[in-house]
Amino acid sequence: MQWTSLALSLALAAQEVAAGPSHGLMARQFAQAAMMRFQCSQLVFDRIDPLVQPGQTPSTHLHQIVGGNSFNASMTALEYDPSLKSTCTTCDYSEDFSNYWTANLYFKAKNNTFKRVPQMVNLGLSGKEGVTVYYIPPYDGKTKVTAFPKGFRMIVGDAMLRTKTGQQKQLCHRCFSNMKQDPFGGAPCTGDDTFDLPKKQCGGGIRTTITFPTCWDGKNIDSPDHKQHVAYPSSGSFESTGPCPSTHPVRLPQLMYEVMWDTTVFNDKSLWPTDGSQPFVYSMGDGTGYGQHGDYLFGWKDGVLQKALDARCSGNNCKTLKTQAASVSTACAKSQAVREPVEGWLTELPGSLPVTYQ
Ligand SMILES: *[C@@H]1O[C@H](CO)[C@@H](O)[C@H](O)[C@H]1NC(C)=O
Ligand SMILES: *[C@@H]1O[C@H](CO)[C@@H](O)[C@H](O)[C@H]1NC(C)=O
Repeated sequence: MQWTSLALSLALAAQEVAAGPSHGLMARQFAQAAMMRFQCSQLVFDRIDPLVQPGQTPSTHLHQIVGGNSFNASMTALEYDPSLKSTCTTCDYSEDFSNYWTANLYFKAKNNTFKRVPQMVNLGLSGKEGVTVYYIPPYDGKTKVTAFPKGFRMIVGDAMLRTKTGQQKQLCHRCFSNMKQDPFGGAPCTGDDTFDLPKKQCGGGIRTTITFPTCWDGKNIDSPDHKQHVAYPSSGSFESTGPCPSTHPVRLPQLMYEVMWDTTVFNDKSLWPTDGSQPFVYSMGDGTGYGQHGDYLFGWKDGVLQKALDARCSGNNCKTLKTQAASVSTACAKSQAVREPVEGWLTELPGSLPVTYQ
């Protein structure tokens, strides 16, 4: 993990200069915190959604899914246990059969055809496309967190959203100016990060960060909107160990997804609209970026995540946890439940969804 500390100290120095003391402190804590940060490679692109549209094949829009290969249109909580049903996972930690999924990004060309934006593997990690997953304990280095229980699931964001109003906090885009992306270059949703998709060409691609609430009601593993059983701290932030509201007193680790979109292959001015708008659309037909969302379905082997959190595991290699090589995790795959083209130039988005901007 030497690269991590190197990247971190460089990031920290740059950040302190750029952002001044208060941001610098945040960056320092972010940089020094022990946090699990690992690669979950592509499992499948599929139009099923066991949380929002259980049992429905096809569901409305396409997702990219990573994690355990037992992902299915219906995954009834407790009854359907991914850690028992899966035979492999695309994550570095081989006992993590959870599923993590997000919308996909497409490039909309002037001739109204669409091409999927490839994803990059994050700095220091290896694998194939997918998502960088973080489980972050409080920065103070001592406050305990409770691992998600069996059957737990939750959602951040709203696929229908096309405006800033109603945005859940901590769901942002970062426009990298060059390919030397620094994953720790400032906490997510700070600096020039935007809730909507950047309107300019990004020389190093676009990063989406999706950060989940960190307080739990301690009782329900799910709720009708998949959100109400969790909450953000009532004041301050998770990072500053802000208190959980009395309705949601149990402190969870902070789960975060980072998706690195390689938009650079489309950075050709002649392909871009001339009216100043941006050509990327999420798979819901969202031309704004406000509709990006993240879904989580817990599936770690019994007790393993709690042990890892207690041991303050960091990075993608921790002696408390079993790991697997990228050659093994990328061999884990699943065929589409809804067979349809998602690659190449498509005449319409999967599900024939129109692109909307409001
Ligand atoms: C997967 O989901 C489909 C659609 O709801 C269902 O028919 C099937 O039984 C599920 N598979 C398993 C193994 O539960
Ligand atoms: C649409 O535009 C893209 C990008 O310029 C091009 O590669 C593709 O061949 C075009 N498709 C059609 C059907 O013209």
